[in-house]
Amino acid sequence: MGVATPVLVATATSGLPVTITSTTPAVCTVANTTLTLVAPGTCSLRATQDGDANYTAAVPVVDTLTVASATGLVLPSQSISFASPGAQTVGTPATLSATSSSGLAVAFASTTPSVCTVSGNTLTPLAAGNCTITADQAGNASFAAAATVSRTFAVSNPAVSASAATGKTLYASNNCGMCHGTPPATLKVLNGANNPTVIRSAINSVGTMGNYSGLTDQNLADIAAYLATPNI
Ligand code: HEC
Repeated sequence: MGVATPVLVATATSGLPVTITSTTPAVCTVANTTLTLVAPGTCSLRATQDGDANYTAAVPVVDTLTVASATGLVLPSQSISFASPGAQTVGTPATLSATSSSGLAVAFASTTPSVCTVSGNTLTPLAAGNCTITADQAGNASFAAAATVSRTFAVSNPAVSASAATGKTLYASNNCGMCHGTPPATLKVLNGANNPTVIRSAINSVGTMGNYSGLTDQNLADIAAYLATPNI
């Protein structure tokens, strides 16, 4: 670390010699009583005296010290600037962008891997929901680690182009008319059923409709298109 190597002093009440070792050799090492600082971090030292024929072993003593940078100064801080990429669409990758005030590379990670994953700076939206991405910079010999910045944004399924004719077939083959009537003659009130989201929420909340959970977003878009134009 370019600074004078300190000499360690430890004594035992017995007068027997004390052994000092480093438990953090990546940060500091000890040879006899000479301490060598290797890298910034927390140096942990352990002093032991094993005893002899006249004295039992002493209780080991542990001490820590902070090793600063080569200049002897506390490492300068850095911050991350990470703008949200905004709403994303399932199946369409996006490129994430973030910078650190130190100029060091920023690493991304997803905390919602069922909704989105990230590899390098490429975001892959996998499913509808909220995607949360963290941006980290771990620091180096010249900069302390940056505080993590996280961004959360919506991921939605791609808009599907709907076919009312296909929806008419699906409405019949799934026996929706058994409970909701057969449009246009006997269509019972289906509030907002021309919206696929309304149909999906009915499937998720109405017990007798639970067996429709296999209908795809495309199926629901088609059925909604049919209910919007039941005269076809
Ligand atoms: C076994 C009877 C049954 C069948 C079959 C059925 N539903 Fe339903 N559905 C219901 C009931 C009960 C409700 C709740 C109505 C309410 O709360 O007013 C409902 C609610 C809905 C709603 C919400 C309406 C609203 O006003 O909130 C939509 C949309 C809907 N169903 C569409 C469909 C479609 C499309 C199908 C065929 C894929 C279907 N349903 C099949 C019983 C059924």
